[in-house]
Amino acid sequence: MLLKKFKLRIVPSRFPWCLMARTAFKVSVVGAGGGIGQPLSLLLRKVKGIDELSLHDLRGTKGVAADTGHISEHGTVSGYVGEDELEPALLGANLVVVTAGMPRVPGMTRDQLMQANGGIAIHVIRAMACACPEALIAITTNPINIIVPTAAEVLKEAGVFNPHRLFGITTLDVVRSRKFIGDFMNINPRKVNIPVIGGHTGPTILPLFSQCQPEFRGDTEDILRLTHRIKEAGTEVVMAKGGAGSATLSMAYATCCFVKSLIRAQNGQEGIIECAFVASSVADAPFFAGPVELGKQGVKRCLKLPVLNEFEQKSLDNLLPILRKNIEAGVHFAKTFK
Ligand code: LMR
Repeated sequence: MLLKKFKLRIVPSRFPWCLMARTAFKVSVVGAGGGIGQPLSLLLRKVKGIDELSLHDLRGTKGVAADTGHISEHGTVSGYVGEDELEPALLGANLVVVTAGMPRVPGMTRDQLMQANGGIAIHVIRAMACACPEALIAITTNPINIIVPTAAEVLKEAGVFNPHRLFGITTLDVVRSRKFIGDFMNINPRKVNIPVIGGHTGPTILPLFSQCQPEFRGDTEDILRLTHRIKEAGTEVVMAKGGAGSATLSMAYATCCFVKSLIRAQNGQEGIIECAFVASSVADAPFFAGPVELGKQGVKRCLKLPVLNEFEQKSLDNLLPILRKNIEAGVHFAKTFK
């Protein structure tokens, strides 16, 4: 029974850094029938180290599971539909990716999604606390700045909160920064590395151009223009989709990149650093997005902030009160949710 629940199945290792064997790794995607969930499920089929992919949503996941399950890659795929199948979908998961929720439409801020998505997140996190209390949790559902602190409260209430295992995925901010800067400097975006700190809303996203690798070649005007574009890139997609939702494909791509890194770190690869919104003490806010070293337990350490230039320091000082308010709203939401 215990063996079945926690999937202590031993499978041959496909990782050179793991010499003998590893336990089977189950990933559950909640919201897998949606705009992010479907392409994410497809992309995850190519991620090494996933033995079982469990897809949950209120509808559509049986088809997505059958479809992605025919792809000639390692691992099994199963689909779960509806409220009653949420806990079975999560049972024994090592990693749960939460993409469920409503997207923005033009004119809305991410914060305004809390009314629609906060309750969904609480429902999923409560189910996780029962079905897979040890799992890593990676959340893309907006507003991330508010929902991640809400999730932490729910996990605390259930007595299973582990700050090392809860992530808000902000990888898309890094992906966009790489692309926009790569295009500007006429270099391969994959060669660009830049930390994006703060949170995941227009006012709280802060790319650190002073830390860009290779060094950013452009003037102050260029930095201001690109910073604005990175902060507002989500809105750019919302406007382009004209009421049909927000970023789904680039979000799935970014989420898949993050999941790959989490799994590599789980399997013992050292020195993996990704930006994410996590419980942190590097800035004056209890949750903060920034570079995190990943390890077998999830967050190994949050990297200290580098020395910022005057513009970056001022921007950080301006965003912190907004972020703290978001976090307080998340805690309040969890405490008052019926
Ligand atoms: C994004 O950055 O594209 C997402 O957070 C979705 C949104 O509403 O902007």
